[in-house]
Amino acid sequence: MSSKKKIYIAGCGGMLGEAFFGVFGQDYDLRCTDIDVNEGWLSYLDFRDLDAYKKDVELFQPDYLFHLGAYTDLEYCELHSDDTYATNTMAVENAVYIANSMDIPLLYISTAGIFDGAKDVYDDWDIPNPLGHYARSKYAGESFVVQNVTNHLVCRAGWMMGGGPKKDKKFIQKIMSQLRQGKNELFVVNDKLGTPTYTHDFANNVKLLLEKEYWGLYNMVCGGVTGRYEVAVELVNILGLEKSVKVVPVASDYWKEEYFADRPPSERLVDKKLDLRNVNIMRDWKVCLKEYLCKYYQNYFLFLSIAFFFQISCADNEQAVTEEKYTLNEDFSEEIASIKSMDEFKDKIGKQIENKKYQV
Ligand SMILES: NC(=O)c1ccc[n+]([C@@H]2O[C@H](COP(=O)([O-])OP(=O)(O)OC[C@H]3O[C@@H](n4cnc5c(N)ncnc54)[C@H](OP(=O)(O)O)[C@@H]3O)[C@@H](O)[C@H]2O)c1
Repeated sequence: MSSKKKIYIAGCGGMLGEAFFGVFGQDYDLRCTDIDVNEGWLSYLDFRDLDAYKKDVELFQPDYLFHLGAYTDLEYCELHSDDTYATNTMAVENAVYIANSMDIPLLYISTAGIFDGAKDVYDDWDIPNPLGHYARSKYAGESFVVQNVTNHLVCRAGWMMGGGPKKDKKFIQKIMSQLRQGKNELFVVNDKLGTPTYTHDFANNVKLLLEKEYWGLYNMVCGGVTGRYEVAVELVNILGLEKSVKVVPVASDYWKEEYFADRPPSERLVDKKLDLRNVNIMRDWKVCLKEYLCKYYQNYFLFLSIAFFFQISCADNEQAVTEEKYTLNEDFSEEIASIKSMDEFKDKIGKQIENKKYQV
């Protein structure tokens, strides 16, 4: 029998669940469930069903319960408020009953979106004032956990980056998909401020808190403060597309048909408590964005010329590119192999790709 501690993770099939499975899977025995069974390592559970949830957790006898899942589409939540509270709030109450009845710690994921944006930056002790049904449902879940579970971890994430093309339902994937469609103008809001949060850093920081048993409520976002526009510009730069793709700043009104749910002008967080406890291992958002793109999107532009700019940009990253990922003709491979920097690449090869001298 395994001597590892056990964690039950509910709602583990999404962006964050993918990172949790990776980060916790090595050191813990996991049972991962979701309503959307999209991986071999997931089993079906609808956490709104208290009896089924309780039975499944009791059967596994975990040392910890992680309640990860929620509806995260703000427009869906605005239009389906009953379903939203049943899923994002009352299911969290289910998790609280189960954790308390088994006397085990509970992890709940909250969001930077519970603030109204009247301030520029929020620390862990600022008072939330949620604007729409998503934010209200998440804050109600947060409060219930904090008030009713002694050994709780409530970690507030910002704009999540993770899961790659398969699972990322958020901003980064929306931008990447426009680029893959060949768009050379991106219309990005310049009046929404926030802090990206890389799922892997988030999972690692949760693990650190758990192992130190530093229970409580924590802001947990990447380092640095930014906004949607700056994130898009940085993404385009990482891909090496700054000359060919224009990021056009627009006000939120531009997107009001698609994104009609109320969003705060600022949902920037600082990880004050993590800093004060000296356990903040969240890296800068730019470092994380690059790592995220290089790790998950290397094959995304396969057979498009922009794949080459991206390849070189990622070459100094951990997931350095291997030539066999792309089919290059001989001359091209040799020239690329001799190039040491992105600037040199653009000087020597970029123009030729643009002029279609080289075929990909
Ligand atoms: N994404 C962000 O930017 C962000 C920011 C701050 C905080 N958070 C919080 O982080 C947590 C993880 O979110 P995420 O980004 O990983 O979202 P995600 O990718 O949508 O993953 C959430 C998962 O929960 C599942 N789920 C929904 N209802 C369920 C139910 N009744 N029973 C079991 N599973 C259910 C979802 O299935 P379906 O796909 O079928 O709905 C999905 O697989 C959530 O608590 C979210 O509120 C997210």
